[in-house]
Amino acid sequence: MGALAKILTLCCVLGLTLPQTLAEKDWWRTAQLYQIYPRSFKDSDGDGVGDLNGVTQQLAYLKEIGITATWLSPIFTSPMADFGYDVANLTEIDPLFGTMEDFDALVARAKQLDIKIILDFVPNHTSDECDWFIRSAAGEEEYKDFYVWHTGKVVNGIRQPPTSWISVFRGATWTWHEGRQAYYLHQFLPKQPDLNYRNPKVVEAMKDVLRFWLRKGASGFRIDAVPHVFEVAADEDGNWPDEPRNEGVDDPEDYEYFQHIYTTNQPETIDLVYQFRKVIEEIDEELGGDDRILLSEAYAPLDILMQYYGNSTHNGSHVPFNFELLANIDFDSDAYHYAQLIHNWLDNLPEGQVANWVLGNHDRSRIGSRLGADRIDATNMLILGLPGIAVNYQGEEIGMTDVFISWSDTVDPQACQSNEQEFERLTRDPVRTPFQWSDEQSGGFSDSATTWLPLADDYKLVNVKRERGIPLSHLNIHKQLRALRDEPTYKQGDVTIQAIGPNVLAFKRSLAGQKSYITVINLNDDVESVNLDTIFTSISSQLQYVVVNDKSVRRKNDLTYANSVLLMPKEAVVLSTV
Ligand code: NOJ
Ligand code: MG
Repeated sequence: MGALAKILTLCCVLGLTLPQTLAEKDWWRTAQLYQIYPRSFKDSDGDGVGDLNGVTQQLAYLKEIGITATWLSPIFTSPMADFGYDVANLTEIDPLFGTMEDFDALVARAKQLDIKIILDFVPNHTSDECDWFIRSAAGEEEYKDFYVWHTGKVVNGIRQPPTSWISVFRGATWTWHEGRQAYYLHQFLPKQPDLNYRNPKVVEAMKDVLRFWLRKGASGFRIDAVPHVFEVAADEDGNWPDEPRNEGVDDPEDYEYFQHIYTTNQPETIDLVYQFRKVIEEIDEELGGDDRILLSEAYAPLDILMQYYGNSTHNGSHVPFNFELLANIDFDSDAYHYAQLIHNWLDNLPEGQVANWVLGNHDRSRIGSRLGADRIDATNMLILGLPGIAVNYQGEEIGMTDVFISWSDTVDPQACQSNEQEFERLTRDPVRTPFQWSDEQSGGFSDSATTWLPLADDYKLVNVKRERGIPLSHLNIHKQLRALRDEPTYKQGDVTIQAIGPNVLAFKRSLAGQKSYITVINLNDDVESVNLDTIFTSISSQLQYVVVNDKSVRRKNDLTYANSVLLMPKEAVVLSTV
């Protein structure tokens, strides 16, 4: 347990209140994080695309659902080839989203409401329309090595790219540039050239971007595509090795065709995150106030993810996103699998670090579609009930599901780079549709009847306004779970996780001198009876229902014997000791 956590526990046991500053400075340890995809959250000017003023308007909603910080997908100037993940000017707001004044107003209003604003930082690449790239392509001395350039190999008189590497969005990672007469590297779209992190000027320039936004009031960053930032160093002749094949994948354009041992998770990446953390701490020092934080996006093996947290000499990312459940659980996963994946993170967590729980984002099929609509409350019980930081993607609190979008309406480049047969496996449009605020036109998202992606058909049933009025709606259950997180047991307590057979997952949160809470989830459709007495130590013989869902026959405040808790199909509840 870290020093602060020990002090907090002690104060709590002794019934003391901590000085505000100490308690709040590392606010992030129990934060309720919420990802906003600004294009789809709230459109304030009627053009069918969400914007910053829309976010500002809806900050009161974030307050209503108890959010402590929100991270925004990119809002910077961009030709939108990858909907903002192709940044053309790293220190400007795209006019589609508003102006710098709008950003200032957002930060000011968020501050009043005590909600932190976290920005998306895209270090791996810029847009090809970024001034740095234009100057690099022109061979300007200062910028010529800002990106990864190579003249290629000549085989039988024919020019070829330097390696056979494949881009995440299909096809070669190398694109020929007529002006520069060389290939440039792009791990994503040709319109997203990779920056060259072996050039110290790039590292400095990107650190300045962090400084810029921190001084403008950002409370930290979500760092995009971290594993891709470095490629293996070139040999002394300036060449790179090809990657080995992945047997079983036959499509040579598919990203999975190769094992990405030279283009992802290079050791230098970890150190770069430590360097970014230093910048954060430098600004904490300069400006004071609450800790500013880093969230890092890496789909990587667990031992690498744990290194992102830091080591004995360096601090790293506060929140290396925990995608264990997101990436490995599917519709048929049993309770043992869930328990094992939860343990994977907790058991490997470095001393003093905090866990985090993520089940969805703007890149992955929505929880309700992936795991089943009647498991939405269950997953929110995991995200909000397990120790540490809860992360929700917009719409998870009301149970939004994927929206079918036809090939002709598809706009996501990851899908558009493929074909009519493959696009459904690749498209991310279905999880990026407009947020469902109400049953009004365009779901209350926009005054425009047409929106950049179509609205879900179910918006009249699944929306904030309606769910506010339904006691056991996803939204109201989410609010109850959020309220529990203010209890000392949830803030500082231990956790014990147990699969009770393949269908039932349970975990207990406990803290000396406080009530214990037990979450019990029936993943499947059999009625189950579980004996919690034999599974969890020191619980009372009777337990009280604190949160029930719409599958429950019991009501909030009802009592049950711990040795025979009956669960309806897909029922998910929180019980407390009495
Ligand atoms: C990860 C982001 O989440 C995704 O949306 C984007 O397309 C890629 N990185 C490239 O920046
Ligand atoms: Mg790279």
